[in-house]
Amino acid sequence: MTTQTLREARKYEEASGKLISKEERPDFHLTPRAGWMNDPNGFSYYKGQYHMFYQYYPYESKWGPMHWGHAVSEDLLHWEYLPCALAPDEAYDRDGCFSGSAVVLPDGRHLLMYTGVLKEHIERDTYREVQTQCIAVGDGIDYEKYEQNPVLDEEDIPKGSSRFDFRDPKMWKKADGTYACVVGNRPADGSGQILLYESADGFQWKFKSVLVSNCDRFGKMWECPDFFELDGKWVLLISPQDMLPKGFEYHNGNGTVCMIGEYDEASGTFKEEHDQSIDYGIDFYATQTILSPDGRRIMIGWMQNWDACSMRSPEEPWFGQMSLPRELSVKNGKLYQKPVRELDALRYDKVVYKNVMVSEIVKLDGIKGRKVDMELTVRPQNGEELYRKFAVRFAQNDTYYTSLSFRPRESILKIDRKFSGSRRAIIHQRRSLVDHAGGELKLRIILDRFSAEVFVGDGEQVLSATMYTEQEADGISFFADGTANIDVVKYELGYRF
Ligand code: FRU
Repeated sequence: MTTQTLREARKYEEASGKLISKEERPDFHLTPRAGWMNDPNGFSYYKGQYHMFYQYYPYESKWGPMHWGHAVSEDLLHWEYLPCALAPDEAYDRDGCFSGSAVVLPDGRHLLMYTGVLKEHIERDTYREVQTQCIAVGDGIDYEKYEQNPVLDEEDIPKGSSRFDFRDPKMWKKADGTYACVVGNRPADGSGQILLYESADGFQWKFKSVLVSNCDRFGKMWECPDFFELDGKWVLLISPQDMLPKGFEYHNGNGTVCMIGEYDEASGTFKEEHDQSIDYGIDFYATQTILSPDGRRIMIGWMQNWDACSMRSPEEPWFGQMSLPRELSVKNGKLYQKPVRELDALRYDKVVYKNVMVSEIVKLDGIKGRKVDMELTVRPQNGEELYRKFAVRFAQNDTYYTSLSFRPRESILKIDRKFSGSRRAIIHQRRSLVDHAGGELKLRIILDRFSAEVFVGDGEQVLSATMYTEQEADGISFFADGTANIDVVKYELGYRF
């Protein structure tokens, strides 16, 4: 049944989405059909296509009562919009359909699980948002909310835990055909915990265990958990709020954490062996993964930082982008990421330079653009002492640029969008410690009009940042303090026909 609220959203997004030209959006990163987008939701493969839903407020380019936007893709890069899938239109989710996930049922229906939000009057003019887990079932376009919603509520959380912070269910189907899901929650200590639930049919859910407790180690509330097996280990991805910085590993505010370890399925507990940031740049949050039909674990995130949303004016016709989908692997107990291999098919006009000496500002013929895949190797120049700094500037004209700079003596790689045209006092730079062999470092930089994603080495680190510099600023230049030597392989990216 489509309600009036959903019909209105569908009508509105169709009309206003049409007013946004292709050139005003990135080419291969998903943006909202109209208005505002945050977290990826319900990332799944259904009826021969990848489905991506997203936290969505179609009416303005700012956060509002959450809907689920919807798009499909054959290749994870080229997205086609479908009508808005969920609207906040029931007694139990009137104030928002928050993040959640999707699985395919044995009878071929698509099952969505999301967080229903309902404001409760506490006293005078104080309201708190009660969060419950709800279900909707559909055919890939239209979804019917389950008449027994919510399927998980305050009765299903450990004693003393918060019913106001209980959100973002991520389901998966187990080998035996039953289901499990992880949900973010806040126990009595005020920090985060991940709850594990089980279900035989996807509809009736039962509390199993506290999978992991934060105990105030990584920020406070843990949002958007995901949990899966990869390369013989178990991986838990979380997005904590209110982080404190730890060296160069974690930064202040909303962050992302990947924990790698062992899972004891019988007790439903996770033993952590290693933790690290998922992304070391500025804009990345609320990850969600999928197991692709060919067995790849692919992750996508919201390419945005909650504290930096003011960088883009709410007058703009859309806000929020997804990251590039990334193939994950675990090697030596650490997380590695690569752009999905489907991106290779978008490459054209290859330009190659080998052994270019850089000791001042260098510009190379054919090396420019805002939709670019550039592999860059920097190393010391033979016979010269180790350079002090190497930098590549992009999205550059006489006024603007964004840069990536590497100081081999400190092993620090920095992304800096201070001069990208931003007029807000927000975070513009982020530094990360990187591994390199005596000043030799390999980088792959992907640009798509309004963003840069930098894959370091073999994908052991990624730094993502958005920038809204005018598109005429398409220069790329290289610089060294001291003498460096570089190889560059650069492609244009996009759909040629
Ligand atoms: C994370 C988040 C989720 C919530 C959603 C609301 O970015 O805060 O925890 O479900 O956004 O839009």
